[in-house]
Amino acid sequence: MKHTDLRNNFSKFWEDKNHKEIPPIPLVLENDPTTLFNGSGMQQLVPYLLGQEHPLGTRLYNIQRSFRTQDIEEVGDNRHTTFFEMMGNWSLGDYFKEEQLAWFWEFLTKELGLPKEKLYVTVFEGNKEVPKDEESISIWKKLGIKSDHIHAYPAEKNWWSRAGIPENMPEGEAGGPDSEVFYEFTQVQHDPKFGKECHPNCDCGRFLEIGNSVFIQYKKNGMGQLEELPKKNVDFGGGLERILAAMTNDPDVFKIDVLWPIIEKIKSLSGKEYDKNNQSSMRVIADHMRASVMLIADGVTPSNKDQGYVLRRLIRRSIRHGRDLNLTQGFTAQLAQSAMSIFKTAYPQVNKHEQKIVQELTNEEQKFQLTLSRGLKEFERMIKTHKKLTAGDAFFLYESYGFPVEVTKELADEKNISIDLKGFNEEKMKHQTASRQGSQGKFKGGLADQSEQTVKLHTATHLLHQSLRTILGIHVQQKGSNITAERLRFDFSYPDKMTDVQIKQVEDMVNEQISKNLSVSKRVTTYDEAIKEGALAFFGERYPEKVSVYSVGSFSKEICGGPHVTNTKELGHFRITKESSAGAGIRRIYAILE
Ligand code: ALA
Repeated sequence: MKHTDLRNNFSKFWEDKNHKEIPPIPLVLENDPTTLFNGSGMQQLVPYLLGQEHPLGTRLYNIQRSFRTQDIEEVGDNRHTTFFEMMGNWSLGDYFKEEQLAWFWEFLTKELGLPKEKLYVTVFEGNKEVPKDEESISIWKKLGIKSDHIHAYPAEKNWWSRAGIPENMPEGEAGGPDSEVFYEFTQVQHDPKFGKECHPNCDCGRFLEIGNSVFIQYKKNGMGQLEELPKKNVDFGGGLERILAAMTNDPDVFKIDVLWPIIEKIKSLSGKEYDKNNQSSMRVIADHMRASVMLIADGVTPSNKDQGYVLRRLIRRSIRHGRDLNLTQGFTAQLAQSAMSIFKTAYPQVNKHEQKIVQELTNEEQKFQLTLSRGLKEFERMIKTHKKLTAGDAFFLYESYGFPVEVTKELADEKNISIDLKGFNEEKMKHQTASRQGSQGKFKGGLADQSEQTVKLHTATHLLHQSLRTILGIHVQQKGSNITAERLRFDFSYPDKMTDVQIKQVEDMVNEQISKNLSVSKRVTTYDEAIKEGALAFFGERYPEKVSVYSVGSFSKEICGGPHVTNTKELGHFRITKESSAGAGIRRIYAILE
């Protein structure tokens, strides 16, 4: 089956069950300080899983481009990738376990025709607060799954929230027990290094998870306890490549037609075979190039900070592996072309950025190819004199030759030499060249945590936006927004530094609106209608057919996912704490409520 067919099957399946497609969001999130990248289909649904009404109703689905750095070191085996596509469906307080498990089973076995005996399911075994998921077990049994194909696991495996296990969930985060389906590749022999017995969650590669139904019915409260949400939701996610791998009964996801054309191109450019010697490097390059194309299309450029540094690492690691395959200068742009042609129909917007993608990759490649040879010589010199790479060594390679630490680690691993990673990271923190490492950019709390303070700051952001437009002019446009429980940060287009008088005028205008006790209302309407009414709109790639418009009295009107306070009297006093530049023609404001 081709990826384009699976996309169509999936959409039709859920459309037939009265689900509406929610437009996918970009990989880099506007207005969400909690994550560097969108790593799952549910990210945009957080407010709705917590109880807000979704403009498209209670049954939703989509295919969402996602990117996770957690497994970056595993890339090279036959199943881990950084970029992937997640097929998802949601019930927002509509159907629950009974329908979800039966429907996903129907999709796998009837729609896709996967053999039942190769499918295994898992459920949550329970903990102190939440009982064992007997309900799912009995549903799976009713669907004809034998007991020895049903396994129960603790929260580490069968609980899902963006922060992981219940203990790690911050206040306001939603999550719940989940039930996963695994496909068994009988041709893969169990490797005893993973334990005596093989089972669905064994990491030996015989079993591959192909879908996860999360029953989001809990929220962490202020006392650190799990509290039942007003409505029980379903959040399903299944990897597109993995489902296709199961359908071809081949455990290598790189053989799927969303990756294989890139491997073919690497083969032809290098003249090497996709065999044991080269497979791992070819997979790293194919995954990283595909991910780089997607990230650049979504506005990321290589840098030493945040998302930009993750992208830089992907490109530089590919170039290092490219050396092993004798891939010469200019190969990244050629592989990007293969990646773009794969997604021509699924993501036409990616191809629109072709010029930029090729340009960024070529620049970065040129830069790194120059220092790579010299850095490799330095590395050889280092290991001649000592058996261990010290934090200074690794940091020297990083700072002088631009070696991301995983490149140095891989080189060291190949020579069986240890490396002081902890020391390296400490050294790096000291120099503060990169504020955050992407692979550690985990859940941090913020607007998506829905805490009272972040919600207030969100409403204040709307008031600030409108006030800036009133005082500085309507050419002011939002360029970015980031809210934590402590403060709001707002970036907007404006050519000059704001004067003290202007800052005071904006502050006064926001406070004046607050003191008017304006009520905040939400209206669901079509995108065109919202724009006609004068609502401001600044996010995303495309809007759904229906959108929510938030109005604060008659002062401000914006298309927005919420949440907001119900009346401005809840906000308190607004104060701008800093005004500065955030790039050419862009100003940045920090403000607090006190
Ligand atoms: N949100 C769930 C996941 O990402 C489905 O696995």
